[in-house]
Amino acid sequence: MTDNAEIDEIKKLQNDINVHFYRYHVLDQPLISDYEYDLLIKRLRELEARHPEMVTADSPTQRIGALAADRFQKVSHPAPILSLANAFSNADLTAWYDRILKLDSRVAQSGYVLEPKIDGLTVVLRYENGILVQGATRGDGEVGEDVTANVRTIKSIPLKIPIVEGSVKAPDLLVVRGEVFIMRDDFITLNQTLEENGEKTYQNPRNTAAGSLRQLDSSLTSTRPLTILIYAIVQSSDPMPATQWGLINFLRELGFPISDLIEKADSFDEVLKITPRWIERRDSIPYEVDGVVIKLDDLRVAEELGFVGKDPRGAIALKYPAREVTTILKDIGVNVGRTGVLTPYAIFEPVEVGGVTVTKATLHNFDFITDKDIRILDRVLIKRAGDVIPYVIGPITDARTGVETPYKMPNLCPSCRQEVEHLAGEVAWYCVNAACPAQLVRNLEHFVSRGAMDIIGMGIKIVEQLAEIGLVKDVADLYCLKREDLLVLEGYKDKKADNLIDAIQASKKQPLARLIIGLGIRGVGEVAAADLAQKFNDLSELAKASSLQLQQMEGFGPNTADAIVDWFARPANQKLITKLKEVDVWPVASESTGKTKRWYLDGKTFVVTGTLPTLSRDQAKELIEINGGKVTDSVSKKTDYLVVGENAGSKLDKAVSLGVPQLSEEALRALIAELEKTNG
Ligand code: IVH
Repeated sequence: MTDNAEIDEIKKLQNDINVHFYRYHVLDQPLISDYEYDLLIKRLRELEARHPEMVTADSPTQRIGALAADRFQKVSHPAPILSLANAFSNADLTAWYDRILKLDSRVAQSGYVLEPKIDGLTVVLRYENGILVQGATRGDGEVGEDVTANVRTIKSIPLKIPIVEGSVKAPDLLVVRGEVFIMRDDFITLNQTLEENGEKTYQNPRNTAAGSLRQLDSSLTSTRPLTILIYAIVQSSDPMPATQWGLINFLRELGFPISDLIEKADSFDEVLKITPRWIERRDSIPYEVDGVVIKLDDLRVAEELGFVGKDPRGAIALKYPAREVTTILKDIGVNVGRTGVLTPYAIFEPVEVGGVTVTKATLHNFDFITDKDIRILDRVLIKRAGDVIPYVIGPITDARTGVETPYKMPNLCPSCRQEVEHLAGEVAWYCVNAACPAQLVRNLEHFVSRGAMDIIGMGIKIVEQLAEIGLVKDVADLYCLKREDLLVLEGYKDKKADNLIDAIQASKKQPLARLIIGLGIRGVGEVAAADLAQKFNDLSELAKASSLQLQQMEGFGPNTADAIVDWFARPANQKLITKLKEVDVWPVASESTGKTKRWYLDGKTFVVTGTLPTLSRDQAKELIEINGGKVTDSVSKKTDYLVVGENAGSKLDKAVSLGVPQLSEEALRALIAELEKTNG
């Protein structure tokens, strides 16, 4: 290929990948699979390596990996980064309205915009000629810190605007403001992973977001699930929309992530009518929101109203009631996780917070108890945020009466009474007894779960019973269960027992990657398991791998590699592998994973909708992808087939209106079989 052709390809790839990124992370409407995306990135990396002069600041390859700095540079903001005054009731809001109406009668004619008050931290993003050149924290409102390298790793932040060329023109200079935060679910998953790896868990999403953004090493930031929503313009070289509503839409058109909860009210009376709904929806928002921001829509009037201290008069935050209460810490219990990690939890005098009675909360790890000097019978401050498990903020030391006693961590596992161990460099304490019943239950639970062997009908209750009566001592024992064994369990009649046995047997067909996930090796989740299943043919091959060999695989550091080697080195696990083979739970890569990709469906795009008779959505996707097809989320003119099951909804309607052909699961299998015959 000539240099010029390569350079053109680089430009095209940079642009295309940025669009795919935006569709995935901002619109949630990907056009291509993750796999195809990875291939595009890989190709771009190769080309950029040959043409380093083409590595521009907005290239998607520049999202990760700036070198660690020893401190942040200071950034002067182009205009003060203001705060907000608070209101706690509709009466406070009315007082605010009366005040500003007295100052400027035009307030009466203005509409209002209501936005979620996101509980994160402000960042200020600077775009020059459409390219992201700087990201800064708020600091004191005048001067912040330059966190550009970190901001670049946040996937919903456009590196270039407008994302879609030819839509709107970006001003030569544009400085916007938004809130960086972490989705609740992402926070929970992050903490689970940290806990399994014996690392310190985080207290709440906000602190995690703040800590991650102020990391000197941006490669660490890139591993944290930060996201952002933009809500204001700080400076622009072009005249900007005269209303907040217009401004929000303009930012959205440029490709910035904008909250879809934002709504407009035509009058102040309407604002008062809408606010109760915002209070109700609090817990259904997938991230933490501490109130609703009410902004004058007429930005000229808002600006002329000026500010009081750091609070603009033209906007106000209606704060949700705090969900912090105090209660007595009655005791501290200890949970044993799947990997043997011991996690302490607080047991309280029951207390109501935000309409929910709380009796337990996580205490993260034993260091947390010592660091905060939490004592039994202390009065403690706790907080409940959304569905995140309540957490302890700390003891109220002033309330101590002298009866409080320091906590001593157990040196025996609360489940099996074996001595607990501590690994150098980790905060966690472990029970390393492979036969520990608490671990067995967690292990079984994980093994049968949807992301692993997906044994339908096998819930926690039955797992606990099976472990308790000693019928199941490891995951391989599940495959030896007979219907008579199940009939003795609570609630198991013939049909239910048969179904469960069938489901267990059916799970033998799960691909190797699923089985590897099911083993529950520390640090080996979905992605790592898929990589391992690509590289190794079966479990006995994987068992022979050395740590160095594993570390040569992309994404495998020494911790994960060692965890894998250690897992296979344990005699109990070696026995388990032999047993799994004996009971015929022995998927082989070439039969069931992407290792031998076939290309019968090459170039064909599928959408899957509704409930299929035997395949889950993920399994259908896998089947199509193994055969070289691609699966997208939404139906368009480019969709070749819609695979439909029962209760299909709007996707089916759309396919009908576009004339996209439909396939049942059976027809899909027939199509593949047919192509296999003709192509060979
Ligand atoms: S507007 C003039 N809008 O809340 C602009 N702030 O308590 C003033 N915040 O420092 C800010 N969501 O970090 C605005 N939709 C939103 C917001 C929001 C969260 C934060 C922001 C601000 C703090 C004030």
